Amino acid sequence: MDKMIIKGGKALNGNVQVSGAKNSVLPLLFSTLLAEGEHCFYNVPKLSDVYSAIKLLEAFGVETEWKDDALLIRVGPLKAVEAHYDIVRKMRASILCMGPLLARTGEASVSLPGGCAIGSRPIDLHLEAFQQMGAELENQSGYVKAKAKPLKGAQILFDITTVGGTENVLMAAALAEGTSVLENAAKEPEIVDLANYLNKMGANIKGAGSSIITVEGVKQLKANEHHVIPDRIEAGTLLIAGAISGGQVKVEKCRPKDIETLILKLREAGFKLNEGEDWVEIFPQKSWRAVDVTTAAHPGFATDLQAQFMALMTLAEGTSVISETIFENRFMHVQELVRMGANIIPKTRVAVVRGKAGCLKGAPVMATDLRASASLILAALAAEGTTEVLRIYHLDRGYEKLEEKLARLGAKIERAKES
Ligand code: UD1
Repeated sequence: MDKMIIKGGKALNGNVQVSGAKNSVLPLLFSTLLAEGEHCFYNVPKLSDVYSAIKLLEAFGVETEWKDDALLIRVGPLKAVEAHYDIVRKMRASILCMGPLLARTGEASVSLPGGCAIGSRPIDLHLEAFQQMGAELENQSGYVKAKAKPLKGAQILFDITTVGGTENVLMAAALAEGTSVLENAAKEPEIVDLANYLNKMGANIKGAGSSIITVEGVKQLKANEHHVIPDRIEAGTLLIAGAISGGQVKVEKCRPKDIETLILKLREAGFKLNEGEDWVEIFPQKSWRAVDVTTAAHPGFATDLQAQFMALMTLAEGTSVISETIFENRFMHVQELVRMGANIIPKTRVAVVRGKAGCLKGAPVMATDLRASASLILAALAAEGTTEVLRIYHLDRGYEKLEEKLARLGAKIERAKES
């Protein structure tokens, strides 16, 4: 297992480019199951979650190949429709193969993802939607076995906005018989990216990016090519890295409109930022104000940036109230930040952060999930002394070469083996 060793106190400086979005590429990869032929994706981040998705596709009989900067996915007749527990337990997003498999072959068997570090994260809304589309479901030895011949369009009203649920149903509806209307659909940029690719393949989807999406099912889809959108969570993390280290960082190849709420909060805290079409630059600030944050579905403040923003607030002037409304147990980073000297009181879904400049001191800390790892690295950049972040494999699931990018900006960061 790897760990990250960070010597804090160095202001970051320079330009850094954002990789392709993890949360976009995963549904895009599973969408290939819907259409035979050669799919070609550009701007694919090399992440362990992407390798897990490729492994799963290969288990279904799909061929994959990296060619220069493109990932080719060759889909023929599928030889299996089972998503094994070994992969699903490592990556919850594996559940996104269910919609495409059901729509294309009329059957799917997917291991239930089980518990997760950030809460129970059920998939009931995915399953209810498939049932409304005519699927028969059975729970057998930890697997959901689904059959539908054929899958039929339906009116689906999600009672909670779910990103994965919206994506899974969108893919299923693209090849279902008749019209589907998804209400209270998620509006994240990754949903739009997926709908754009499905439409390129010949689907008929309207309204992606709004809360009502209409899908006219078509009989067949055809493989195409696509450039994955930039990762807004990585962009936000890099901006906060600039902010917390007191540096000047220009984050390039990103879409500022996808992180508008974060930019707004950083400005509210007193940071100066400039932005263009595909870049945002943050300027050095010696001290900053505490601001409150409540996570919400897009375009609200992203839950995937909550832990990183909390690290920034530990050094702010004043008290910040951070409310987590999306996940029930997403404050695992709090105790680790406290070990570094932060003053944070976690309550159920709310954390009160009493900021104080200079409070962070290097310490050995443990990463518990993907975004918590990023939060600890950000805190370490600003801390006095050396921090060792253990269990860094969480980070590798979702950030492409984060330590190399930070090192190029001047951070004293290196990867080493845990003893
Ligand atoms: C996706 C993102 C994740 C992000 C999250 C919220 C990917 C691969 N992951 O996760 O990074 O943090 O959106 O922006 O894109 N829920 C149910 N039943 C369901 C489905 C969801 O109760 O069937 C609940 C969840 O437990 C959670 C909330 O709905 O409390 C939102 O979850 P959802 O939007 O589905 O998150 P994911 O798609 O898993």
